[in-house]
Amino acid sequence: MALSVRLDASYLAPFVRDEEFDLLVPAVRLAHGQLGAKSGAGSEFTGWLTLPGDYDKDEFLRIRHAAAQIREHSDVLVVIGIGGSYLGARAVIEAVKSAQYNLMCGPRVFFAGASVSGAQMADLLALCQDADFSVNIISKSGTTTEPAVAFRAFRGLLEEKYGKEGAKKRIFATTDKARGTLKELATAEGYESFVVPDDVGGRYSVLTAVGLLPLAVAGVDIEALMAGANKAMERFSSFDAKDDCCRWAMARNILYRKGYTTEVLASFEPDFAMMNEWYKQLFGESEGKDGKGVFPASVVYTTDLHSMGQFMQDGSRNLFETVVAVERPRADCLVPDTGEDFDGLGYLAGQSLGHVNKMAMQGTILAHQGGGVPVMVLSTPSLAEEDMGYLIYFFEKACALSGYLLGVNPFDQPGVESYKKNMFALLGKPGYEEQAKMLKERLNGK
Ligand code: PA5
Repeated sequence: MALSVRLDASYLAPFVRDEEFDLLVPAVRLAHGQLGAKSGAGSEFTGWLTLPGDYDKDEFLRIRHAAAQIREHSDVLVVIGIGGSYLGARAVIEAVKSAQYNLMCGPRVFFAGASVSGAQMADLLALCQDADFSVNIISKSGTTTEPAVAFRAFRGLLEEKYGKEGAKKRIFATTDKARGTLKELATAEGYESFVVPDDVGGRYSVLTAVGLLPLAVAGVDIEALMAGANKAMERFSSFDAKDDCCRWAMARNILYRKGYTTEVLASFEPDFAMMNEWYKQLFGESEGKDGKGVFPASVVYTTDLHSMGQFMQDGSRNLFETVVAVERPRADCLVPDTGEDFDGLGYLAGQSLGHVNKMAMQGTILAHQGGGVPVMVLSTPSLAEEDMGYLIYFFEKACALSGYLLGVNPFDQPGVESYKKNMFALLGKPGYEEQAKMLKERLNGK
């Protein structure tokens, strides 16, 4: 089978010996076995493992149909969601289409409910006043404050513009199949609904309706995306300690135990910037618990070489770098040949920016490795749909293995609740009076 993502771990040589990988084989074998047998921690949330093969085909057709309907009737789709109910869709649209998607294509897709910024919401509401728009509200729990607040506002605007009945035809809800406030509302109002499967957590949900509906609206070939994920699923379903998914997970664990506690995911394609954010949620929420975890950070080069380059080269040596190399970017340009050399760039005339970018990447890898940063390279042939599907599954599986190697449950997120409780208390939500009292005392310095 042709390989899509490939790991080059050769730059680790000064930092990690081969025997260190060998020593970790029993642990990664156990982790792989537990994942497959659904016997490890959090196994009730491992539905994503087989999703590329057993996803709901009828719902998939409904997603395509709804997307066609939205494309026909709307200039703008407002996708409302946060965290796992937001990042994947935005990341894949930007990677496959362009970070400038909204400037170049239609319908434009905007994201709301991923913050409680009044300024952002006001801008988007104003934009929707003058556009035909639809809404895809995405919330597995149906109770998350940020998207719920945004939904109130955009639903109100839809009703104002299209009337109650007209608004209902423009609202698409992606939520739990049976439970929750959003599910109840969707059923009562007759919104077209899609399901976040019970056994798939938010950060693993991009290949469910959570990601697929906004992606289909943006013209992403979701069939090819699933086909790519399916390829990765087949590739990594049986245990092979030498496959790139296991090796990346093992390398991260070996480096972490040597004190390299921050991983910087680096890309040389700005279209990958939101995939960096998706990766940060996937790994951060999966591994950062029980006082443990590699801190996931990210950069986009060469841009960030002019801001973070100094630190990467010369700062604290507790970080390692995983470079995502895109072999065939979506498009390319040539350095113009002006027939003169006023800027000293004559030696580059006629060369492609793709080549210049590649040389920048190779130079950066060698410089950082020389500066004491363990570097790995994950190469993907392209950021087109099939390769993206493969890459997503690769990241998800490596993350799960990595979490088990670390000895944590990679599928829960108990820590996320703390800020919510404080926020509810400070906002005066009924039932949080005691907590509010304690917090106010702390805020007043008692
Ligand atoms: O990964 C997660 O579980 C979280 O990021 C959630 O997706 C996020 O908090 C949104 O939750 P919900 O979809 O229930 O609104």
